[in-house]
Order: sequence, then C-alpha cells, then structure tokens
Amino acid sequence: MVFKFNQPKPSEITPPAVWKARRHFIQQLTATGVVGLLPLIGSRAGNGCELAQPASLNKTNTLTPLKSVTRYNNYYEFSNNKEVIHLLAQEFNPRPWTLQVDGEVEQPLTLELDELLSRWPTEERIYRMRCVEGWSMVIPWNGFPLCHLLKLVRPTSRAKYVELISVERPSEMIGQRRPVLEWPFRDGLRIDEAMHPLTIIATGLYGAPLPNQNGAPLRLVVPWKYGFKSVKAIVRIRLSEQQPLSSWQQAAPSEYGFYANVNPAVPHPRWSQRRENRIGELQKRRTLPFNGYAEQVASLYSGMDLSQHF
Ligand code: MTE
Repeated sequence: MVFKFNQPKPSEITPPAVWKARRHFIQQLTATGVVGLLPLIGSRAGNGCELAQPASLNKTNTLTPLKSVTRYNNYYEFSNNKEVIHLLAQEFNPRPWTLQVDGEVEQPLTLELDELLSRWPTEERIYRMRCVEGWSMVIPWNGFPLCHLLKLVRPTSRAKYVELISVERPSEMIGQRRPVLEWPFRDGLRIDEAMHPLTIIATGLYGAPLPNQNGAPLRLVVPWKYGFKSVKAIVRIRLSEQQPLSSWQQAAPSEYGFYANVNPAVPHPRWSQRRENRIGELQKRRTLPFNGYAEQVASLYSGMDLSQHF
C-alpha cells in the first residue's frame, strides 16, 4: 500500500470561489488602508474595546468546515429550510449598503459600507456558536468590536439598550413575502453587553467577505448568547432607554426571552439545553454556561437570578 503523506484531504482544499473572494476581500482591506487580517489582536490600543486575553479564545476547538457554516443556516427572510438558504440568498445584493445609527446618541450617523469597513482594523475571532435548537459550530469570523461604533456615536446617559434591525427587502428575500415573523427582523442587547469586547459586527468569515446566507454585509455576533440574537444584514442600530422587543419574543413570548444567554440549566420549552450536537461530531457534548465564555462575561449578570431568564 502506498501512503501519500503530502496529499491534502478534499476538506483541506479551498474551493476556487472562496479563495478568489478571500483575495478580493484582502485587497479591499489593503486598498482602504486597513492593516490586513490581523490575528485577533488588531484593535488600536487604549479605547476600552480590546479583549483582555485575546489569545486564549483561539485555543478552543476544531473549526467547523466552511461548507457546513455556509450550507446549514437559519435565515427566515429566505426560508425555514436550513439547507436551501444558501441557494435562495444568491438573489440578495449586499451592495450598496448603508448603516444608520441613531436614537439616544449625541452624534447620529449614516455610514456607507466602505467607509465603515475602513474605520477599524479587521480582527479574526474564532468563536463557538450555540443555537437554541441544540446544535453548535466553531466559526472563524472577521469583523470589529461593536464597541468601536458605539463610542463613535457617543451614547447619551439615557441609552440603556441597543436594538439591531435587519434589512426589509421582499423583492430579494422571498421569505419576507409571508408573515412568518414581524419584518424587519430585530433583536437587542443591554448597552453593557453591546459594549463588551467579545461582541462584534462580523463582516466576513474564513477570511472572505460574509456570504449572503450568513448575513452579508454586516451581522452581529455575541458568542455567549444563543445564535438567534445574532441579527443578520443590519441596516439600523438604535439606542434607547426602553428594552426593545425582539422578533422572536414577539412571535413566541413563552419561548424566547430578552437575555438568551446560553445556559444548560434552563431548558427551552421545546429543546433541553444540557447538551449540544457540534456539527460534524458523532457524540453530543455538554453545553457550558455562557457557551464557555463565563470568565469573560458572567460579571455582567452579577446579582441577577439567571434561572428566571431565558
Ligand atoms: N437574522 C435575521 N435577519 N433573520 C434570521 O432569521 N436567524 C437567527 C440569527 N440571525 C436570523 C438572524 C438564528 S435563529 C440563528 S441560529 C443564526 O442567525 C444563524 O446564523 P447562521 O445561519 O450564520 O448559522
């Protein structure tokens, strides 16, 4: 028998469409003066948006293959069938794109996508993502801390919450032609959660621009919360004094709460949260409180009875 040690496995070969998109993405970053894809430690020093121990986050687990990340999605604007979303989302055009930031801020802003992408270095963040349905992935995101953007608009002293609102474009999103959820999709965070350095706006994954099905061109990622909080295709960020109502709370108030921190001790009415199926693995694994990020975020909830919050 002949062993070919240097032969890459099919799973290790990057498809041409991906490396071409990745090359374009990197060229775009360099063209706008951004320092390329920095390995996690990219933030400018000193504005409070940096992670205390960035490197330890990268030691976590094996990456979920790109194919699973981009072919098994939740995106109700297109369909509730996870496996066809990547096909239906090809109709969607994420450019040109404008993001509005307003509400309880001293400096409301409307930013074009390229202007936004050129403002802060792109960082890589390898995060676990845990869906309330009981599956999880490990995804190498590219993006910047939401904290940078919030500091730019200067929240007023009344700003207690941050609401993130998705695009409404039924001509390109066939699921929006039916009242599956209240459109546009939205969700929110407490302002300290939004300012936490783990909370990012993702603009890419696996070193390439964000695929449409994963929420192009701008998508929230909050790794210690269930995946449904990660609003895709964000067009507006609104700061407010009142706690906003999320699309899922509105659709099923008995099933979804505002906090939605990953918590194995609090079952969802339809799915126990004790264990999870890491996509690509045969054995289920134990779910960790705050999805394994307790050291970084548990202090945000000191004094709260977390068994009362889904
Ligand atoms: N954002 C919008 N606009 N619409 C959605 O239906 N689904 C949420 C979240 N963000 C959703 C959304 C849910 S339920 C999950 S689990 C994650 O996106 C899935 O992200 P992924 O498809 O990149 O895995």
